[in-house]
Amino acid sequence: MITNRTYTVEPWRVRETSINLDLLAQSESVFALSNGHVGWRGNLDEGEPHGLPGSYLNGVYELHPLPYAEAGYGYPEAGQTVINVTNGKLLRLLVDDEPFDLRYGRLRKHERTLDLRRGVLERTCEWTSPAGTTIRVRSTRLVSLAQRAIAAVEYEVEPLDSRTRVVIQSELVANESLPHPDGDPRAAKALQSPLEPEEHIALGTRLLLVHRTRESGLRVAVAADHVVDGPDGTGTSAESVDDVARLTITSVLEPGQRLRVQKTVAHGWSGARSRPAMGDQVDAALAAAAHGGWDGLVAEQRAYLDNFWASADVEVHGDEEIQQAVRFALFHVLQAGARAEKRAIPAKGLTGSGYDGHAFWDTEMFVLPVLTYTAPKAVAEALRWRQDTLPAARDRATQLGLSGAAFPWRTIDGSEGSAYWPAGTAAFHVAADIAHAAVRYTAATGDTDFERDTALELLVETARLWRSLGHHDHHGVFHIDGVTGPDEYSAIADDNTYTNLMARSNLLAAADACERHPDEATRLGVDDEESAAWRDAAESMHISYNDEIGVHEQHAGFTRYQRWDFASTAADQYPLMLHFPYFDLYRKQVIKQSDLVLAMYTCGSWFDAHCDEDQIAANFAYYEPLTVRDSSLSACCQAIVAAQTGHLRLAYDYAAEAALIDLADLEHNTSDGLHIASLAGTWMALVAGFGGTRREGDCLRFTPRLPEKFSRLAFRLQFRGRCLSVEIDSDRATYTLLTGDPLIIRHLETEVHLNGDGPVTLPVPAPKRRPTPEQPLHRRPNEP
Ligand code: BGC
Repeated sequence: MITNRTYTVEPWRVRETSINLDLLAQSESVFALSNGHVGWRGNLDEGEPHGLPGSYLNGVYELHPLPYAEAGYGYPEAGQTVINVTNGKLLRLLVDDEPFDLRYGRLRKHERTLDLRRGVLERTCEWTSPAGTTIRVRSTRLVSLAQRAIAAVEYEVEPLDSRTRVVIQSELVANESLPHPDGDPRAAKALQSPLEPEEHIALGTRLLLVHRTRESGLRVAVAADHVVDGPDGTGTSAESVDDVARLTITSVLEPGQRLRVQKTVAHGWSGARSRPAMGDQVDAALAAAAHGGWDGLVAEQRAYLDNFWASADVEVHGDEEIQQAVRFALFHVLQAGARAEKRAIPAKGLTGSGYDGHAFWDTEMFVLPVLTYTAPKAVAEALRWRQDTLPAARDRATQLGLSGAAFPWRTIDGSEGSAYWPAGTAAFHVAADIAHAAVRYTAATGDTDFERDTALELLVETARLWRSLGHHDHHGVFHIDGVTGPDEYSAIADDNTYTNLMARSNLLAAADACERHPDEATRLGVDDEESAAWRDAAESMHISYNDEIGVHEQHAGFTRYQRWDFASTAADQYPLMLHFPYFDLYRKQVIKQSDLVLAMYTCGSWFDAHCDEDQIAANFAYYEPLTVRDSSLSACCQAIVAAQTGHLRLAYDYAAEAALIDLADLEHNTSDGLHIASLAGTWMALVAGFGGTRREGDCLRFTPRLPEKFSRLAFRLQFRGRCLSVEIDSDRATYTLLTGDPLIIRHLETEVHLNGDGPVTLPVPAPKRRPTPEQPLHRRPNEP
């Protein structure tokens, strides 16, 4: 489907067979390695050339002033931006007396492979220096999923035609200069050299740098140790200054001889721990890693991933590109969340500095749905992070004159990091998204301790927000006015259907959870009157419907607005927000990203109870010609509902768009980091879309249907302590309980008892045929 691909299409690998320096920044994102705590972009070992150097530690950011032309009450004053921490990846190489640099000499071969099963990035190159010496360099890099502080590189040099003197400089470098500092000069100044040196050590083969961020006051320690293997005469020396610690390794190699360096790097940061404690912490992490050595790290990585894929793999038959893309997507979603442990999962994971390293609702509504069924522990951790940030969210609610907790639209540390913009302050739906994720996780795992200790508090504080944000009118109907829903081309709108339905289920879930945990509810100050008020608000929630045209409204009055003039909008005027004023987008029928359509998926049980399939199809058909997909969060949602309403070809095109967003750099900004929500959306499009998977309370229901292109789709899910396999062919679906106690699921309307005795196969009926809805001019999926 995509021509001129940069990467080969293989089921378990992403391989680049030659290097294009113009596309370096994109490949650095695609080849980024991370465990959710440490993130290394796929920069070349020798550091240069580079697109964007990047080493990140989840939660390490710097503060900078947020500029406003005019002051206003409640505007966040400080911005947070992820910083490039001390770079431990560097291994510079001198060949005779010339630096190994791809921009000079002759590159005979250059291949990089991201291995999705082994969790390593491998590189092989053969290079002839300008003076005519030819060498082979091999490196293998990993960021350990098993030991969260650790990343490691094995680097090997071999001369191919003559005796060669080589020098490897293995470094830790802080305050690397970055190619394009951020737009705002005040922010750029704060982010230039953000790390103040505190300590540097170089001893034997060990290196350590400790720094502290100037404004946010976070201490960062990075240490490295090395195992060097070379011919007799190989020597090492170490030195350090404030921002650089270096081990220099020299050797003279005959053709066929190799110099190999195994470098292990440990990372740590803290807002509280002392300098000596941080130094000890990273030294201890190095000692733990040294225990099993390089081979141990490689073996642990494989074992971690074998375990993950055993209950998370998705197989697509008949479409090799989507097969590779969904595994690539799952791998990066896992990397983003696996070891984040009570930290945010940023929109770009730890693959780039796009969006300033902020986390949005992307986490709860895109990333966590995938992890709930594939790596559930990571979900509990991500939501515990939200719980830890409740004090900031309560303060924000108070500042806005509201009760409960107003979670930030974008953040690193839990405080609002969005400069004033309607979407920032008024996108209250993030509260319901968090609540929804907590309910989803609890139902899918049966983790009642989590419900009592974490979900309950999140539900109560968000329910309080909704109760204070909305109001009953004189008929008793509950309205939530003046909010921004998922579609950022509408703002300060009344009764956004997504927000109202999500708030409704938030309020009901809070009241239900309080009933299940009365003591904890009392401790949180909830009494019967308060939870009755939540139920009352939920049950009288206003949902806008236009009788004349027979569709649910995205928000009250939306369908009355003038339609956007799509016919006069040129292809190069997208994304619209960069070519038209927001005020005009706000007052017209034009949709940046799925909103009502997303509600039909996330609040499917409300729609099932209140309308039939034809209504859902009519809603979808109404919103399709208005939705321009100026956000990468849209295609996957449209894929799910397109599949649900039987538009399988359209669903396929949307799924492919979500899937190839980064492998094909569809939005031309993969260089800033991967689109983790869209990658997660690939799984959602396949599992929820074509698999038709829906959670109804604590039961799973499947309404499978395959697009023509797929001959078979198979996926595995973790659910309430079981592992379940679902295999779908064009006319039947097979369910197998792989591990765990018997389970009842539903296939369409049929109850299916799975007891581990073997697979159950049932027929898949063809969906009802309906005319395919139109998309705005120039905005069809798969349109060049
Ligand atoms: C989208 C938001 C999203 C953010 C980060 C924006 O373009 O409109 O919904 O949260 O990107 O991915």
